[in-house]
Amino acid sequence: MKRLLLILAGLLVLRPLAAEEVLTSPGHLLTLTFDVADGVPRYALTYKDRAVVLPSRLGFELKNAPSLLDGFTLRSAERSSFDETWEPVWGETATIRNHYNELAVTLEQQGRVLIVRFRLYDDGLGLRYEFPEQPRLRHFTLREERTEFAMTGDHTAFWIPGNYYTQEFEYTVSKLSEIRRLLPEAMRTSGTPDGPFSPTGVQTSLQMKSDDGLYINLHEAALVDYPCMHLDLDDRTFVFRSHLTPDARGDKGHLQAPCVTPWRTVMVSDDARDILASNLILNLNEPCAYEDTSWIKPAKYMGVWWEMITGKSSWAYTSLPSVQLGKTDFSKCKPNGRHGANNENVKRVIDFAAEHGFDQVLVEGWNVGWEDWAGHQKDYVFDFVTPYPDFDIRMLNDYAHRKGIRLMMHHETSSSTRNYERHMDRAYRLMNEYGYTAVKSGYVGPILPYGEHHYGQWCNNHYLYAVKKAAEYRIMVNAHEATRPTGLCRTYPNLIGNESARGTEYQAFGGTRPHHVTILPFTRLQGGPMDYTPGIFCMDISTFAPGNRSKVNATLCNQLALYVTMYSPLQMAADLPEHYEKYMDAFQFIKDVAVDWDDSRYLAAEPGAYIVAARRAKGRSEWFVGGVTNEEARTMELAFDFLDPGREYVATLYADAPDADYATNPESYRIRSGRVDARSRLSVWMARGGGFAISLRETAPEDRRLRRLK
Ligand code: NOJ
Ligand code: CA
Repeated sequence: MKRLLLILAGLLVLRPLAAEEVLTSPGHLLTLTFDVADGVPRYALTYKDRAVVLPSRLGFELKNAPSLLDGFTLRSAERSSFDETWEPVWGETATIRNHYNELAVTLEQQGRVLIVRFRLYDDGLGLRYEFPEQPRLRHFTLREERTEFAMTGDHTAFWIPGNYYTQEFEYTVSKLSEIRRLLPEAMRTSGTPDGPFSPTGVQTSLQMKSDDGLYINLHEAALVDYPCMHLDLDDRTFVFRSHLTPDARGDKGHLQAPCVTPWRTVMVSDDARDILASNLILNLNEPCAYEDTSWIKPAKYMGVWWEMITGKSSWAYTSLPSVQLGKTDFSKCKPNGRHGANNENVKRVIDFAAEHGFDQVLVEGWNVGWEDWAGHQKDYVFDFVTPYPDFDIRMLNDYAHRKGIRLMMHHETSSSTRNYERHMDRAYRLMNEYGYTAVKSGYVGPILPYGEHHYGQWCNNHYLYAVKKAAEYRIMVNAHEATRPTGLCRTYPNLIGNESARGTEYQAFGGTRPHHVTILPFTRLQGGPMDYTPGIFCMDISTFAPGNRSKVNATLCNQLALYVTMYSPLQMAADLPEHYEKYMDAFQFIKDVAVDWDDSRYLAAEPGAYIVAARRAKGRSEWFVGGVTNEEARTMELAFDFLDPGREYVATLYADAPDADYATNPESYRIRSGRVDARSRLSVWMARGGGFAISLRETAPEDRRLRRLK
C-alpha cells in the first residue's frame, strides 16, 4: 500500500509555557483550549466559535496509589502538524486524508509524569493519555479513568444503556435529562443478566444534537489492552464522565508504562452528513500492520442461518439435552429432523448462491456442542473441529469450490474465551485445510473465566488475539457480540466485520423499530463495519417458521437500501432462497450492489429520521444509492450531481409502491429505469419504515431509446 506522507511541520515547536494552551484545527473550524487550573488539567472545545465541550477535567483514580487527578504542573507543551493521505485495504473511499494539528502536554505530579496528546481535526478531536517509562509509575491498576465531557445543555441523545454484557438494544431518543427515567425501559429491549451500572450510564458511540443544531458524537478509537469506556452522566450539570468496564475483581485496567490509552473522541459539525462522512476514528488508529493484504477480500454472502434465527430449523442435531462433545457418538443418536446444517440443505443454499454470483455461504450449527451449550455456561462445549454426522465437511467444501463459492466458518465460542484460545490453532488449521477464508465468531452468554465482562480488558485482548492469530492463517474475522469497534480494522483489516449492536436477528426476536437503521450509521458504524445481515424479503415470519409471530419492521425497499446506507465490506443476503425466488426482479439489486467502494457521498441525513447515501463501486463507473426513513413516510428530492458530468447513466429505481407500509404492506414495490445525468433530479417517496435503492451504470448504445427517469 502506497502512502503519501506529508509531515508539514513535523518539527516540534517549543514555546514558552502559557497559562492556557490553544490549538486550532487545520481549517480553523475547531479550537481546543487546555489549562491546568489549581493543579487540575482541563480541556475545552469550540466549533465555529460555539462551545461544544465546556472546561472538562482529565485524570485517573489509581488502586493503592495516589490519584492522578490534581496537583499537576505543566512541564512542556509540544505542537506539530500532520497531513497524509492513505489507502484503506477496503473502505468507503479509495483514499482517506489524515490531517490534524497536535498538542502534547507533559504534566508532572510529585515525580510522576503524564502526557495528554490532543489531535485536532476539522471534524473533531482525539485525546489520549500517555505514560512514559518512569521510576515512580511502572505497574499500576486503574480504579477509574476520569475523563470528562461537559456538554453545554440538555441535548437530544440517541442512546443505548450502559452495561457490561450486551450492546443489542433498541435506541432511545431523549433529552439527556430524561435518561434516568427511561433507562429501565431501555434495558428491557434486550436480555441481560446484569443490570445497568448506573441510572444514567450510556454506551458510546453516543450521538447527540444540541438545540441550536450541533451534531456531537462521543466515542473512542484504538481500544487496545484497555477496558472499553462507557459514559456516566451527571444529569444536573450535563457532564459525562468516563466509566471503564471492570474486570472480575472490579479493577478497571492493569497498565505497565510505557503505555498509552485509547483515544477519546469528540466529533462535531452543524451538518449531520459530516458525522457520517468522518474518518476521525480510522485516522486515530495505527496504519495497517500487515505487509501482504492480498488475501483480504470484501465478500457478499448467503447463509444457513436465518432459518435457525427464526426457529424454522435448529443449530443442534439431536433433541437430547444429555449429549456432549467427546462423550457422545453422534452417529448413533437419533437426529431431531430439524438440523439446518445438513448436507442437502447446505447444497441447496450453495446452488442458489452460486447461480446468483455470491462469494460465500455461512453455515452455522455444523459442529458438535449445541445441545450441551443450550443448558448452561461451562468452559468446554465446542472444539471448533468436530462436525455433526450429517455435515460432510470435505464433500461440501469441494462442492462449493467447484461452483466458485467458499464456505464461511462459524465459531460460536459460547463466550468461553480460554477454551477458544486453546483450540484456535487447530480450528484455523482445519479452515486452511478445507479452504475456508473467513470465520464468523460469536460470544453469546456470560464470559468465562467467570466474572469477566464482554467489554473488559481481558476480553478486548482476547478479541484482538483472535484477529491477529487468524491473520497468521490468512483468515478474515467477523466477530459477533465482541466490544463495539473502535477503528482497529485500519490496523488489522482482516477484521472485516463485527456485529456489536442490535442486528437484523432481532426482527425475528419480536422486532426492532424502523428508526434503528437511521441511527446505527451515526453510532455503531463509527468504529467499523457491522455485519447487520440485511436483505429480508419475507416480513411475516410466521408464514415459514410456525410459532414465531415476529414481523420484520421494514419494507422490502428499505432492506435493499441497507446495502448502501450501512457500509460494510461484508454483506449478507440473509433471507431464504425461496423468499428471493418470489421477487427476483428486486433481488437483482442485491446481486448488482458492490461491497467495496472508490467514493461515498452522504446526500441527506438526520439521526433518527433518514439517511441517503451514494457510493461508487471500486474500479467501476457504477453508482449505487440507498435511502431509508424511520416510522414516518417522506419524500426525498435527489440531485444526481455526484455523477461524472460528462457521462450518461441508466438508473434503475427500486421504490416503495404507493400502498407500501412497513406494518401493513411491507413487500409492495415498483421498479423503473431511465436515463439520468449529473443535472437530473428525482423525487422519491419512502413509505413508513421504507426506503429506496438505485443502481446506476453508464449507458450503452442499446439504451439510446430509453426515456429519462422521472
Ligand atoms: C448470536 C449471533 O448474533 C447470531 O448471528 C448467531 O447465529 C447466534 N449468536 C449463534 O451463534
Ligand atoms: Ca448477536
